[in-house]
Amino acid sequence: MAMTKNGIEDRVDVITIDGPSGSGKGTISRLLANSLGWHFLDSGALYRLVGLAATRHAIKFDDSTGLATLAAHLDVEFVSDDDGMGTNIFLEGEEVTNTIRSEECGNDASKVAAVQTVRNALFERQRAFLVTPGLIADGRDMGTVIFPDARLKIFLTASLEERASRRYKQLKQKGLSANLSALLEELSVRDERDRNRSSSPLVAAADAVTIDTSDMGIDEVVAKVSALWQQVSV
Ligand code: DC
Repeated sequence: MAMTKNGIEDRVDVITIDGPSGSGKGTISRLLANSLGWHFLDSGALYRLVGLAATRHAIKFDDSTGLATLAAHLDVEFVSDDDGMGTNIFLEGEEVTNTIRSEECGNDASKVAAVQTVRNALFERQRAFLVTPGLIADGRDMGTVIFPDARLKIFLTASLEERASRRYKQLKQKGLSANLSALLEELSVRDERDRNRSSSPLVAAADAVTIDTSDMGIDEVVAKVSALWQQVSV
């Protein structure tokens, strides 16, 4: 276990997996969490839920006070599937697992995620996922802001074209509508916003290992991260 300055919870191990949309973070993180028997934090889902709740409660994306209050009191529940590879997500008691995966929710998430008061409001909620035996934390600022003491930080990348094509296949598999050229455009706008915002921009931590997954299979990436963990955890 990692010993750090901040008390008991910080002694629990965490591997952070950051990167842009479609880099494979979600799938890789879940597989790693399963193979290690650790918990999984899908931080993007929290921002998607804030965006959805804001729309439903008619809170504007430039109302930083209203958004922060909403984020601080967000009534959400994450319920794992039996096989651990899926999570059913509830917002105010209603299941929104598929609803929040739409591109519209992704774009709204990216907008509310640029608001510092929202990020502050979600900070402790994300830290609370750090419980034994360990945590795989998936997001944009896991290694830079939320878990800066993590012993292993991964930054996953892939070309824009590859990421758009993966997202297209994912949406189709879920029975959601998708258009490849629109996805390319939306992903590049979202990347721009996530990378250039002043609050916790999408950037690799100085001590992160960057892996370009454009030409790698899922199993190959999982094996690579597992091997890196073996090296740092001995
Ligand atoms: O990983 P995702 O596509 O579900 O994330 C949706 C949006 O949320 C993404 O465009 C940026 C934002 N996000 C963030 O700013 N910080 C995180 N830790 C996770 C997601």
